[in-house]
Amino acid sequence: ERYAGGAQLLAGRKVLITAGGTVERIDPVRFLTNDSSGRMGFAIAETARRMGAEVTLVAGRTEGPLPGGVNVIRVQSAQDMLEAVLAEAGSSDIIVKAAAVADYRPAMKADQKIKKSEHTMTLELVKNPDILQTLGSRKKDGQVLVGFAAETERLEEHAMDKLVRKNCDLLVANDVSKPGSGFGTETNEVRIFDRNGNVEALPLLHKLEVAERLLELAAARLRRSEA
Ligand code: CTP
Ligand code: CA
Repeated sequence: ERYAGGAQLLAGRKVLITAGGTVERIDPVRFLTNDSSGRMGFAIAETARRMGAEVTLVAGRTEGPLPGGVNVIRVQSAQDMLEAVLAEAGSSDIIVKAAAVADYRPAMKADQKIKKSEHTMTLELVKNPDILQTLGSRKKDGQVLVGFAAETERLEEHAMDKLVRKNCDLLVANDVSKPGSGFGTETNEVRIFDRNGNVEALPLLHKLEVAERLLELAAARLRRSEA
């Protein structure tokens, strides 16, 4: 099967994608999560497969059917996601971190359902590992690392800061306060930043079209690093 552009841009390549929200357990019946549906990551997985890649999808909590023809690894917590990703990262040509990883998890996970007692209760949270930053710090020569940034203000500043801090090659930034963008929608309006300071501002597009443009840019960087 060929993608709409007619080119098998990623034939013979391995692409690793994370999608969805992580689930951080409080006790056996409660957890912390976020609004991510996984749709952007699914669109990237599907498009990469159409472009000829061998695709591994590490999926947290998602909505809707999983894309076909890709290897799926299901995870819950950020720590599980980190382990799954590190096991696959070494052999991947392109890694796309579209997942919404919880920044914090409960400091303690209760083995039994927590009973109510006092009038107030405090849940202590501790910081999760930063998966993208970990990948950036051990990136292989020629590997293309793509991060995401969901922002509500000062988009460019925050996006460039994340790109540099996490040693990404491309960073997809979206303003989640804009209608039609971000969590749960079929569409997304993004700006794609690269390490050289180039910015590609895309109009409001279907997530499959965003995926196509993003993977074209990633494929071009792969070829350039091999030239
Ligand atoms: N990310 C990650 N591991 C984390 C947190 C984030 O891998 N523990 C990744 C996300 O998958 C995304 C990118 O980092 O590709 C940016 O996530 P974002 O939440 O926008 O940035 P943070 O660095 O967490 O900063 P903040 O939430 O404070 O804006
Ligand atoms: Ca975050």
